[in-house]
Amino acid sequence: MSERSRSVLETGSNRRRDWNPVAWWRNASELYAKPLFVKDISECFFFHTMDLPGLGTQMGQWDFRGDFDRYVGNISFTGKRVLDIGCGSGFLSFSAERAGAREVVSFDMDDSRRQHWLPFHTKLPYGSPAEFQAQHNKWIQQWRNAYWLAHRLEGSQAKVIYGDVYDFPVAAGQFDVVLVCSILEHLSDPIRALASVTRVAASELVITTPIIDTDDKIARFEGDASKPELDYVWWRYSRGVYTHVLRMLGFEISNISYAMYKCALTSSLSELPTIVAKRSA
Ligand SMILES: C[S@@+](CC[C@H](N)C(=O)[O-])C[C@H]1O[C@@H](n2cnc3c(N)ncnc32)[C@H](O)[C@@H]1O
Repeated sequence: MSERSRSVLETGSNRRRDWNPVAWWRNASELYAKPLFVKDISECFFFHTMDLPGLGTQMGQWDFRGDFDRYVGNISFTGKRVLDIGCGSGFLSFSAERAGAREVVSFDMDDSRRQHWLPFHTKLPYGSPAEFQAQHNKWIQQWRNAYWLAHRLEGSQAKVIYGDVYDFPVAAGQFDVVLVCSILEHLSDPIRALASVTRVAASELVITTPIIDTDDKIARFEGDASKPELDYVWWRYSRGVYTHVLRMLGFEISNISYAMYKCALTSSLSELPTIVAKRSA
């Protein structure tokens, strides 16, 4: 590691040298997590490929660099209060800030128990949940570390809430934009999750998730008993389901766009749709 990288890791923000996480925390409500001062990059897991000031490119499972606008449906962030549901290592939160958001709140799970796995009897989450959860919490901590390291180096002002997507705290207030990207397919009950997060969605909702291209109201179960390695993808709903569920929740779909994204994990390009919906009631 270069002297420059070491100094970046051990000191504060690259952009905002006056940033004081302790003072900031004292002023923040108890809703928001206390920032972590992460020094050791080996304790970080980057879900997103990110260019970190002073440290260079960190490879992640997905590379959305240059694709942020398309991934979030080409909406405007200028002056908006934004909620990033399932923020992972934070690429969308930090990109929203760069795109002019007034305030960004990043949200992710507070405990591995929140994540639901397909019930393969041969696998640890089913066979020995307590043992699995302890292991998985260590992994989740690495995702959090990556977020907080990037947060500091980017000079981010984003606040963080940890909790359960099925029970998002309404005390966080209303948001102009709620991003629900690449999370619904990993949930056993995506409709309940949407019902939870739309309670705080005042205006625009962005959903990036695989869909079935029909107005028929159908869902496909994505699990396959011969593929225990894919125990984290549950459902794919049709455009028709989203149209009706969003209408129930007071939203109308204004646009659905499709684009290809780089998946570093599989060294391939994957097509993903992005639904933009606007509050109508
Ligand atoms: C595949 S990542 C998506 C990251 C980012 N939103 C994106 O589009 O690149 C899914 C995220 O959802 C979070 N997540 C999964 N289940 C959750 C739950 N029940 N409550 C809160 N967050 C959850 C995971 O921790 C993870 O960060």
